Amino acid sequence: ATERTLSIIKPDATKRNLTGKINAKFEDAGLRIVAQKRIHLTKAQAGKFYEVHASRPFYDELCEFMASGPVVVQVLEGEGAIAKNREVMGATNPKDSAAGTIRAEFAESVGENSVHGSDAPETAKDEISYFFAGMELVG
Ligand code: CMP
Repeated sequence: ATERTLSIIKPDATKRNLTGKINAKFEDAGLRIVAQKRIHLTKAQAGKFYEVHASRPFYDELCEFMASGPVVVQVLEGEGAIAKNREVMGATNPKDSAAGTIRAEFAESVGENSVHGSDAPETAKDEISYFFAGMELVG
């Protein structure tokens, strides 16, 4: 089925001017960017987005990092978009990610790993609505 997923190009990647190269990987995989904006999150906004990780030891570091520079938040649409996006991103830790994936090519560490993508339909819905109003999604 056609799905939508929330993607974030993280501060380590925007800082290195990688937005275009990362978007090309999404588009080459058949994902359509139906919404996109560059924003600078506050630590509190990052904290709310990553609330499910609040009890993890890396939570504070993660929120600091996500607020350390601009991010590009985007909605990707396509057949099986959630799984496809995760395939194009590669494993969370660049040490484990397959050759040719975004994280294998660009990520600096497990924390500064260049991209985020929703992990399931329910989280995709919640994450998209955290950043976008319905009328901002143009398929
Ligand atoms: P993301 O897909 O954005 O979802 C949660 C993030 O937490 C994850 O990518 C990683 O960037 C980050 N993360 C996971 N494990 C660690 C860790 N051990 N240290 C720092 N950050 C981590």
